[in-house]
Amino acid sequence: MIDFDPLEKHLARLLERHDRARAPWTYDDLIERMQDRRLDAMVRRLGDGPVDLASVRAAWAAGAGPLHPDHAKALETAYLGETNLPWYAENLYAHLGRGHPLLADFFRRWVAEEDQHGRAFEIYLLMDRAVPSAEMLDAKTTMLRAGRPAPAVDPFEIMVYTSIQELSTRVFYARLARVVADPLLADLLRRVQADESLHLAFYRDAVRLALRQRPELAEVVHRGLMGFREPVTVLPDYEERKALIWDTGISNLKVFRTEVVEPLLTYWGLEDSAARARWAG
Ligand SMILES: [Fe+2]
Ligand SMILES: [Fe+2]
Repeated sequence: MIDFDPLEKHLARLLERHDRARAPWTYDDLIERMQDRRLDAMVRRLGDGPVDLASVRAAWAAGAGPLHPDHAKALETAYLGETNLPWYAENLYAHLGRGHPLLADFFRRWVAEEDQHGRAFEIYLLMDRAVPSAEMLDAKTTMLRAGRPAPAVDPFEIMVYTSIQELSTRVFYARLARVVADPLLADLLRRVQADESLHLAFYRDAVRLALRQRPELAEVVHRGLMGFREPVTVLPDYEERKALIWDTGISNLKVFRTEVVEPLLTYWGLEDSAARARWAG
């Protein structure tokens, strides 16, 4: 197990960098813009016409974001990934945070920020009824009941895993933001993506520091890249969701290899042809 104590001052610098770089954000902008869009649709549709419940409802419905159902499903999948946070928190705190005060300090910020992501996606999905809410709740319950085993127990191996996970998430949100028809959602995704970038920066740089100290840990990186599984794999309809997402082009094996595996290997100064081949598709 790696000793993080010699890296203390470097980790403190990474933590400070995170705090300096993160622009706090709230739900106000999202909610106000969603409300304004509804109100605008209502004003335009209702005009001087009759204000009965049916026409108000129709006008209200017209104010929903122009989101393709496949993109809504992709966002719901992202939401489910974010919302299993209680399990990630338990696993990561037990094996990463508990033994080291500085890592615990970062970890607590990370929990708060990840929680905000899931809630923001939930607000968007529910307010616009982008997916049937009963199905979404069912899937959430299934996800939480399935739990999530710890991806590793060694702190270094966990940070390899979280580096892959954070970059994979960032890439997913960036690519989803590029294709969604709703600019409001694209803005939200970019905002969350900025948080994921900062999470990635902490874990990825901590891994690089540890690799410099102990180059033989490249073997652990290799293991992490070969065995990586995203959290939503616990969902019973995971394969269907994956097929749908791949069809949209938002993600696939090639994207994972070229935008996640290869940039990480380059950043860590590693050559790992087996890991590249594993994700060659
Ligand atoms: Fe997140
Ligand atoms: Fe994150």
